[in-house]
Amino acid sequence: MVSRLKQKIFQTIHGGNLVYNTCWEDPRCDRALMKFDQNSRIVMLTSAGCNALDYLLDNPISIDCIDVNPRQNALLELKTKIIQHADFHLLFEWFGKGYSAEANALFREVLAPDLSEYSKNYWERNLHFFTGSRWRKSFYWFGSAGSAAFMLHKRLVSRPHIKQKLEDLLVCSDLSLQRDIYEQLEPLVLDGFTRWLLNRHVFQSMLGVPQMQQNLAKEGYAGGMAGYIRECLRNVFVEQSLTENYFWKVYLQGHYTTDCCPNYLKEEYFPVLQKSVPRIKTHTSTLSEYLKQNPGTYTHFILLDHQDWMATHNFPALEEEWRHLLLNSVPGTQFLLRSAAQSVDFIPKFVHERVEFQSAANFPSLPIDRVGTYVTTLKGIFKY
Ligand SMILES: C[S@@+](CC[C@H](N)C(=O)[O-])C[C@H]1O[C@@H](n2cnc3c(N)ncnc32)[C@H](O)[C@@H]1O
Repeated sequence: MVSRLKQKIFQTIHGGNLVYNTCWEDPRCDRALMKFDQNSRIVMLTSAGCNALDYLLDNPISIDCIDVNPRQNALLELKTKIIQHADFHLLFEWFGKGYSAEANALFREVLAPDLSEYSKNYWERNLHFFTGSRWRKSFYWFGSAGSAAFMLHKRLVSRPHIKQKLEDLLVCSDLSLQRDIYEQLEPLVLDGFTRWLLNRHVFQSMLGVPQMQQNLAKEGYAGGMAGYIRECLRNVFVEQSLTENYFWKVYLQGHYTTDCCPNYLKEEYFPVLQKSVPRIKTHTSTLSEYLKQNPGTYTHFILLDHQDWMATHNFPALEEEWRHLLLNSVPGTQFLLRSAAQSVDFIPKFVHERVEFQSAANFPSLPIDRVGTYVTTLKGIFKY
């Protein structure tokens, strides 16, 4: 009963909102693991679309982005149209700063005529994400994950001693100093209220973490989701330098900077993106449905962490998805998946007979994962 109610809450949030306003998986690791090239035909989940744009830099033939949430596809479509029809300066205003005073004019005159009907209607209703409201002056404070981040951020920066330490953290380029600042911040940030909030199902749903994934994540951690998140935060703020960590910095400050942002927001890559962005296509459906309707020989499937969503509550759908993935693979096709679970034992048995999986931990020269919230990253190679 409680579990059905929790599922309903997640479905209501996920079914009515843009959830992710930025991708939450590190494409630098993905590209090192997957080795995309000019022969790659990639199928991936859309999320916020940042990573599809990143993969374009490896010059693949095609990238098909699938998402059941049409708002996520509308976000990627908006990004691609700005890249195609505007200049770097405007792209950085919208998606680097998250704020553009001229958003209305560009939208009406240039972008809207080239957007799909759904995307045009969606952004007509939600253009204030970019023009700001009284309190929220950044796109990164909108969408359900952005709103959750905004609440936490506001609470933290309303206290001057925390605000100062967060600012020190943002400019710190020395790892041992960064550790010192974080050790001082941790008990202030993860106080009783924040820990309570992090353990609330509604809050996790806003962040895009359904009940099934919460269950997988908190296994083995004292303190539930708050305990899991504390470990993740320590992994990021104590073990690695924040200098290039645009994932966490965007939620600490509400925007990117030109020297710390996803690749698609770097000026040097703008010309290549303008040329290759038509290779990205978006599709609103489940991954299984997409593969049923669009059979093909794909070289890479980027599954993000979405199988956590099916692992415990919808195993038949997970099996069906794997059947379609295998049907559309050729020897050498690669799979990338992440999970909040320590051991991914939910992959169906028949898959292991045909796909060889390796943990990313077996690739010692891999760049550090700046997101730091997935316990498991797996690369699979289709054998036959
Ligand atoms: C699994 S979520 C996770 C977010 C991710 N870790 C990231 O990088 O932002 C990514 C997207 O997958 C979509 N999704 C979940 N299950 C799906 C499915 N079976 N088929 C297609 N899209 C799905 C969600 O709507 C969401 O936008």
